[in-house]
Amino acid sequence: MTVSVIGTGYLGATHAAAMAELGFDVIGVDTDEQKIKSLANGDLPFYEPGLPELLRKHIASGRLTFTTELETAAEAADVHFVAVGTPQRAGDTGADLTYVDAAVAGLTRLIKRDALIIGKSTVPVGTARRLQAMVKELSAPGLSIDLAWNPEFLREGFAVEDTLRPDRLVFGVDSPAAEELLRTIYADAISRNTPVITTDFETSELVKTAANAFLATKISFINAISEITETVGGSISTLADALGHDVRIGRRFLNAGVGFGGGCLPKDIRALQARVSELGLDRTMRFLTEMDEINLRRRDRAVFLADELLDNDVVGKRIAVLGAAFKPESDDVRDSPSLDIAARLFNQGAEVFIYDPKANANAAKRFPRLGFADSTEEAVQGADLVLLLTEWPEFKALGPSDLAGLVKSRKIIDGRNVLDWQEWEAAGWTTRTLGRKSVD
Ligand code: UGA
Repeated sequence: MTVSVIGTGYLGATHAAAMAELGFDVIGVDTDEQKIKSLANGDLPFYEPGLPELLRKHIASGRLTFTTELETAAEAADVHFVAVGTPQRAGDTGADLTYVDAAVAGLTRLIKRDALIIGKSTVPVGTARRLQAMVKELSAPGLSIDLAWNPEFLREGFAVEDTLRPDRLVFGVDSPAAEELLRTIYADAISRNTPVITTDFETSELVKTAANAFLATKISFINAISEITETVGGSISTLADALGHDVRIGRRFLNAGVGFGGGCLPKDIRALQARVSELGLDRTMRFLTEMDEINLRRRDRAVFLADELLDNDVVGKRIAVLGAAFKPESDDVRDSPSLDIAARLFNQGAEVFIYDPKANANAAKRFPRLGFADSTEEAVQGADLVLLLTEWPEFKALGPSDLAGLVKSRKIIDGRNVLDWQEWEAAGWTTRTLGRKSVD
């Protein structure tokens, strides 16, 4: 079977390579010529562990090809995955569906045989139903073009694993034939007893947005509690551990710190709220505004602590920022808390030097006036203050003696609760941690 994947960003490129690994002939399509050229050469334009190897393997096997021509995909494939972006709309909080609409409409106009279009992009509830009507209207007479929604739950940094071995499969369908085809496509995962949830369009769309909203809420919940421990004392990590032992709650996504960022959680909670407001349910998701605000307040807190440790005299001070990506194992800096904090300190007059193992280049594209270093040692050289803001393993492994001889002042802020601050304090450092009451 030949399948196409429209949109070759994080989601699409991973999905395309994974489909080839599963034995399909895959055509990846994108309007970005540069991206297609680079993918076709086996060069992944972003960092994702394990994906370059898979990409090269299937370019070599001949099962994976790339093109900018939608027509090529329409002609060759029976199944089309739509994996284009749904970013936040400029000037408002809803999702921008321009790319999804263009991909589905473009494909439908070009398809000349019966086919299944499978949406993977994260979309507001109601989108699939609307697209189904559009497909019906635009498809050539006599053709049967079916639509299904099959949301993707992959995490950046684990994208290959999550795609090849998903924890669940959600099929939003409106016909038994679509379900049957989806079951054939995902036969490998299904044979390993992966739970399959077959449902309607609306549920499948909502599962995805609800999952991200829940995860964002979990993070903001622990970060709200950390505002209390910052006031009354106590250990936010110990509290999270104790909460996590309750299997109904679970420990994961209870790491307090500078909060969530990236291309998904922030825009998805805003889009969900925007969508339910359109549906007249203004109050229903209002708590998500609060979650968003708690999340953004964490960044304010990190800046406040930096000001405090620099005696409110930031101008001209040298600040080392460890981490620019929105999370480890990624070079993605979209809505990155660490980069936001770094830029704010720079705008206050500090000299900021960032080191991230993978995201320096992307960060530099966004904020070219910040300083960038090639190693932790270089970043912290002569620093008046160090901020650890993305918990890469190499930063988690740092001990006080690793940096002591390099910095100008032994002051560090742990924005991710990963250092043993007592050990650092005992070695003569002044430390601050998100979620911990400041005491001198
Ligand atoms: C998220 C979801 O986890 C995926 O399931 C989903 O498929 C994806 O969005 C998507 O919609 O495409 P991702 O954006 O890769 O995946 O990142 P996460 O691992 O969810 O982390 C999001 C942010 O939360 C990061 O900035 C991370 O540092 C932060 N975080 C995470 C915390 O601050 N505390 C935690 O305990 C966990």
